[in-house]
Amino acid sequence: RIPLLIDTDPGVDDALALLMAFADPRHELKALTIAAGNVGLGHTVANALKLCEIAGVDVPVHPGCPVPLLHPAADAAYVHGQDGFGDTGYAPAARRPQDEHAALAILRIAREHAGRLLLVTLGPLTNLALALRLDPTLPSRVGRLVVMGGAVTGQGNTSVPAEFNIAFDPEAADIVFRSFPKAEVVDWEAVLRHGFLHTDVDAWLAAGDARARFYDAISLNTRRWSAERRGERWHSADALAMAVALAPGGVRRAEDRPLAVELEGRLSRGATVVDWQRRSGQPDNARIVLDYDQAAFEARVRGALGA
Ligand code: BDR
Ligand code: CA
Repeated sequence: RIPLLIDTDPGVDDALALLMAFADPRHELKALTIAAGNVGLGHTVANALKLCEIAGVDVPVHPGCPVPLLHPAADAAYVHGQDGFGDTGYAPAARRPQDEHAALAILRIAREHAGRLLLVTLGPLTNLALALRLDPTLPSRVGRLVVMGGAVTGQGNTSVPAEFNIAFDPEAADIVFRSFPKAEVVDWEAVLRHGFLHTDVDAWLAAGDARARFYDAISLNTRRWSAERRGERWHSADALAMAVALAPGGVRRAEDRPLAVELEGRLSRGATVVDWQRRSGQPDNARIVLDYDQAAFEARVRGALGA
């Protein structure tokens, strides 16, 4: 089985992605490392622990950085709820987080599985950037890095050009994209091309097991929020990234290009600047996923919900 490590800031769509990872028999989930992002670190850690409990999965949960590397950033509680899980008032999990910091866990697990590790990031890149500063040789031990983040033609969801995970900690994203020779990128614009009908999602949630019931409850507000703004299709950014990570054979179209993160800019801090024309002479450090097998994606989502 392929060793898997997920850095995440749960978050409603993170939760679906994690359920997908829990359900995959061909990957062995080694740990969750937890970022701040959608909401504060206390909530994202508690949410990760709760989701493991609901799914009956025993995986170490490592808290990471409570703030971005350099500059404060606004969270996304207005989408995910004040607690990041839809404010359902769930009873906290009995299990406890690990003492080892997320950045140290990333370095240790990469050493233990050198060359084979599948590393997936579903949140701001603060923990991974810190790990890279501690040990810049880390990329040589990572088999694949899949990043949910960015907006590759400047159509963001946090500012005009920037996507949330990159905009939350642009310096961290800059470190990551400069360090890895080829990150696989699932950006916000790809997410918008891979929606599901709300009516289908409602049916899956009704048909599923205890995981689906929990997911139904925590996602209710975000599903309403998205139906009001984006119409009949519902989108799950982190779930699409997880499908790409777990089953790369489903990628129908991808393009390799240089990608850099804008750290300044009056309008564009946190934008992912993709050199589509290859004007910069920089290496193609990003594999940008443009199209994924929608039926395969749906099957994974349903499998994760027991539907
Ligand atoms: C990303 O931002 C977060 O709010 C989601 O969890 C996802 O990782 C989408 O832009
Ligand atoms: Ca996320």
